[in-house]
Amino acid sequence: MTDPSSPSPDAPTSPSATSPGDAAALREGRPPSDSLTEMTEMVLPQHTNVVGTAFGGVIMSWVDICAAIAAQRHCGEVAVTARVDAMEFHAPIRLGDVVCLRAQVNAAFGSSMEVGVRVEREDRRTRARTVCVESFLTFVNVVDGRPLPVPRLQLTTDEERQREREAQERRAQRLAARALPAKVAG
Ligand SMILES: CC(C)(COP(=O)(O)OP(=O)(O)OC[C@H]1O[C@@H](n2cnc3c(N)ncnc32)[C@H](O)[C@@H]1OP(=O)(O)O)[C@@H](O)C(=O)NCCC(=O)NCCS
Repeated sequence: MTDPSSPSPDAPTSPSATSPGDAAALREGRPPSDSLTEMTEMVLPQHTNVVGTAFGGVIMSWVDICAAIAAQRHCGEVAVTARVDAMEFHAPIRLGDVVCLRAQVNAAFGSSMEVGVRVEREDRRTRARTVCVESFLTFVNVVDGRPLPVPRLQLTTDEERQREREAQERRAQRLAARALPAKVAG
């Protein structure tokens, strides 16, 4: 799986010249680094299941929040979760673990954006990190209940362009899947 959110370590974290949600941002776009969002959490007893690892739902909630902030930073408006792609838990996250989340907008479409999120567990002694979860989420810029266009993404590096191309491919697959009837239960 491609790293969903791996901006260069020296990527700026401050917003670009345009202010959130304004017409200039819509016209000129924003670099992916404007949306970069990092969160650090600690797994407490209320976050765990009976075997002492974090509930998947708790991690999913943190992923959703981190991604929503990234989407909001890009579009400067409220962004609602339209879709969460498959989420695989590669390694357990245990009671007391420090959990580091990193999210960034990979692609801006019409009114929607793909956000990549990576969740890592940090070893408290060595600070070594283990990737536990990666996911892609789609957010829609909603104003007064209506989807509205988002600023385009200003791509400057080959890595950003590659990530955007892959996001476009995933979007095509999502749109195709949306057209298929689903039988979930009952
Ligand atoms: C997401 C939502 C705003 C889309 O509204 P809609 O009337 O279906 O809008 P449209 O069909 O015009 O789609 C708007 C955009 O959303 C995208 N979209 C809508 N549903 C999607 C889905 N399931 N997966 C991926 N993208 C989706 C469309 O592709 C379109 O993107 P584009 O403008 O970039 O081309 C609406 O379905 C909604 O409000 N859902 C509930 C969101 C919510 O409450 N989330 C919190 C979790 S409960």
